[in-house]
Amino acid sequence: TPRINCICCIGAGYVGGPTCAVIALKCPEIQVLIVDKNQDRINAWNGETLPIYEPGLDEIVKHCRGRNLFFSTDIDAGIRDAQLIFISVNTPTKTYGIGKGRATDLQFVEAAARHIGQIATGKKIIVEKSTVPVKAAESIAKILYSNIDDNVSFEVLSNPEFLAEGTAINDLLQPDRVLIGGSQTDPGIEAINQLAWVYEHWVPPSKVLRTNVWSSELSKLASNAFLAQKVSSINAVSAICEATGADISDVAHSIGLDKRIGSKYLQASIGFGGSCFQKDVLSLTYICEALNLTEVADYWHQVVVMNNYQKKRFARKIIQCLFHTVSNKRIAIFGFTFKKDTADTRESSSIYVGKYLMDEEARLVVYDPKADKGQIISDLREVSSQDPQRVDRLVSVINDPYDAAKDAHAIVICTEWDEFKALDYEKIYNSMYKPAYIFDGRIILDHAALLRIGFHVEVVGKVMKKPVNDLTPF
Ligand code: NAI
Repeated sequence: TPRINCICCIGAGYVGGPTCAVIALKCPEIQVLIVDKNQDRINAWNGETLPIYEPGLDEIVKHCRGRNLFFSTDIDAGIRDAQLIFISVNTPTKTYGIGKGRATDLQFVEAAARHIGQIATGKKIIVEKSTVPVKAAESIAKILYSNIDDNVSFEVLSNPEFLAEGTAINDLLQPDRVLIGGSQTDPGIEAINQLAWVYEHWVPPSKVLRTNVWSSELSKLASNAFLAQKVSSINAVSAICEATGADISDVAHSIGLDKRIGSKYLQASIGFGGSCFQKDVLSLTYICEALNLTEVADYWHQVVVMNNYQKKRFARKIIQCLFHTVSNKRIAIFGFTFKKDTADTRESSSIYVGKYLMDEEARLVVYDPKADKGQIISDLREVSSQDPQRVDRLVSVINDPYDAAKDAHAIVICTEWDEFKALDYEKIYNSMYKPAYIFDGRIILDHAALLRIGFHVEVVGKVMKKPVNDLTPF
């Protein structure tokens, strides 16, 4: 069988863009066409400032673009020319109807599949790259086959993406594994081999796993559920630390040295965010319920419950420390993205911390090195649905951390950006209202130094000493 020489990716987002840029880099003989219905996004991919920030991405795109990497809104042409098509569209949590708030919304996957069914001719391999509920490939196959004539044939593969935002390029260049699920028939295995061949341009064959479609789909949801569960577990422990005087950094360190557990994802914080963890755990619980596995659904759902608790607990701590009233107080929010090294704010814990503080009429001044100002405002408006005007009244976004902290009663560290460690906190302290508070929701600052300056310091999972010059009773 001839090898693949043209790949199309439908969906130029956080996954489709970086994934296919790396394929273009590593497979110079393959033409890679990334298509999207969003004209602005495609313009940005073709312009100077790419639509997503990801360390290392710029160089790769600028190297390959116009050679074997192309961005376009001509979806028809992409489908027509490619032998292999990735579906990498968004699969958010449903916000309406049956399964609202938990089930995966598959409308974009279905639309992409229908589009392929209308346009495709000849033999095509369709690769489900989006994260989908188990058995979604069956629906895709049905849709594809419903509109075709005799000279068209499809093989549907599942090839979930394990990259993490902020480290996407490294994750893609050196993946822990690549997972390819396909039907266990001769044409199915042939299609798996074709896709494996693409990855084996740079991934050692031992890391390219081949399974049936359902195992592959379930592995993605289950991996995210395990990671989210680890974060919720350590966050649950952080609450115990604050109540007892144990120190979460010491506890996490000791737990993480157990090789069976490992140190990754044991960083306590204000809760996990991002577009995937919550959505995928919810999707898994919804599937469990549909399968009548109520206890299994409850078990995984508790991971999300714990995450919501952590966000709320942190916000409550802020309000409580600021003498039970933050009404009209200026509070500087440092960091709005869901983690460092990305501009992505989807499901960021900052949004919810901000919401709880706005509920108490606090004035928020947000500083983030990468997040888009308009996005910050619209994220906060979305959680203020009863009173969207309050965002205009209470929130400002500022592009300098010192200006943000000036005249503030408190600084709240919501994202672990490295630059927050290097700020001049003496200068910041002098410009703030006293007593000046810092709430370190990411455990990144030098707390002893802050105490020496005179700050009141509150840290997730730690009980801090009072400032040296503070004589008020505990
Ligand atoms: P995204 O929202 O950034 O990108 C999706 C793109 O698909 C959008 O630009 C949208 O305009 C486009 N699109 C939707 N329907 C289309 C259609 N019918 N035709 C053409 N374009 C269409 O989403 P993101 O973050 O890239 O996620 C994609 C999938 O990958 C999701 O299923 C997600 O769960 C999964 N995933 C995401 C990861 C992440 O870190 N963001 C990591 C691993 C998986």
